[in-house]
Amino acid sequence: MWKQAIEDAVQKTRANIERFGSQFPHVSENGHYLLNDNDEWTDGFWSGILWLCYEYTGDEVFKAAAERTVDSFRKRMDAKVKLDHHDIGFLYSLSSKAQWIIERDEKAKELTLQAADVLLARWRPKGQYIQAWGPEGDPQNGGRIIIDCMLNLPLLYWAYEQTGDAKYKEVAILHADKSRRFLVRGDDSSYHTFYFDPETGGAIRGGTHQGYQDGSTWTRGQAWGIYGFALSYHYTKNPLYLETSKRLARFFIERLPEDNVVYWDFDVPVNADTKRDSSGSAIAAAGILELLTHLEANDPDRAFLEDGLQRSMKGLVEGYATIGQPDAEGLLEHGSYSVRVDLSPDDYMIWGDYYYLEALVRLEKGIKGYWYER
Ligand code: GLY
Repeated sequence: MWKQAIEDAVQKTRANIERFGSQFPHVSENGHYLLNDNDEWTDGFWSGILWLCYEYTGDEVFKAAAERTVDSFRKRMDAKVKLDHHDIGFLYSLSSKAQWIIERDEKAKELTLQAADVLLARWRPKGQYIQAWGPEGDPQNGGRIIIDCMLNLPLLYWAYEQTGDAKYKEVAILHADKSRRFLVRGDDSSYHTFYFDPETGGAIRGGTHQGYQDGSTWTRGQAWGIYGFALSYHYTKNPLYLETSKRLARFFIERLPEDNVVYWDFDVPVNADTKRDSSGSAIAAAGILELLTHLEANDPDRAFLEDGLQRSMKGLVEGYATIGQPDAEGLLEHGSYSVRVDLSPDDYMIWGDYYYLEALVRLEKGIKGYWYER
C-alpha cells in the first residue's frame, strides 16, 4: 500500500516541477496550489518533497529541481526576504540542510548555519524564549511562543553539533523546557500559544491562533508537539522530552475519529460540516515514527502507538490521498490552514504533503526526513 502511494506522489511531484517552475506551492484554492516567490514560511516543504523524491527514486530530475530551490533559498538569505519569524527552521532544514545531509555540500552547510544564526537572533534573554512572530517589542506577539516552534529547534541543535558552540543547544533546550512547562497541559493536551511578560518572563496565559478557542487543543499543534519533543529527545536524550512526546501522541490517538483522520480541533463540536486537518494527521504519523525509534522493544506503549500510526497512515492513503486523480497537484485533500478565520479551510497544504511523503518513504524504505544527521 505504501509503495503505490509513494509512486503516485512521485508522479505528481514530477508533473508539479513543470507546473510550479521557480515558484513555491503554499495552500490550494479551487484545487490548484497558490504559488509564490520564495517568501512564505512554507517554501521549504516543496524542497523537502523534491529531496525525498530524489532519495527514493535516484532520479536526477528531482535532485536538479531540489538544488534550484536551494539556490533560491540562498538568494532569500542574502536579500533577507521575510526571515523575521521563527519558521527559519522549517525553511532551511528541508532545503539547504537536506542538501548537506544528502550531498555533503559545504556551501549548503554554511547557508544552513547562517539560518541558525537568524533563528538564534529571535531568542529573548529577558523572557527566556524564542519569539515566534513579529519584531522584538511587538505589542501583540512580543511575548508569545507557539508549539509549532518545536520543529524549528532541530536547526539549533544541529548547529551546535556542527560548530561545537553551546549557545545554540542551550537556547533550544531552554525553549523546549519552557514549551513543555507552559504549552503542554496536565491532561496531555496542549495550548497552541502562550503569552509571557517580555520584560520579566512571567507567565500570563495560554491562548490559540488557529485553534477553536483559547483553551482548546488544535490538532495540528498537538502533532507539532509529538514530533518536536521526539526530536528534542533525539538531540538531548532528556527522558522528559520522550515522555512528553508519548503523552501527546496518546492523547492524539485516543481521539482519532472513525476514519482515523483528525478534525481541525479536538474540542470543536463535530457535525457533518466540521472540517478535517489531514496535515495534522500526517505530521502526527511522521512524529510517531520518530518517537517509536526511541522506545525499548518492550515499552508498554509501543503496540498502542504502532497501531495509531498504522491507522493514521491507512486513513490518509485510503480516504484523503489523491491517488486515482492523476491531474491533482496535491497529495492530500482536506487539510485546513485556519478554519477559525476561514483561510484555506479544506484544501491542499504543502506541509501536509511533505509529512505524508516523509512518513511513507520512512515506512517503505527507512528514508528519514532532514531534521538530523543520519
Ligand atoms: N506553523 C504554522 C501552521 O502550522 O499553520
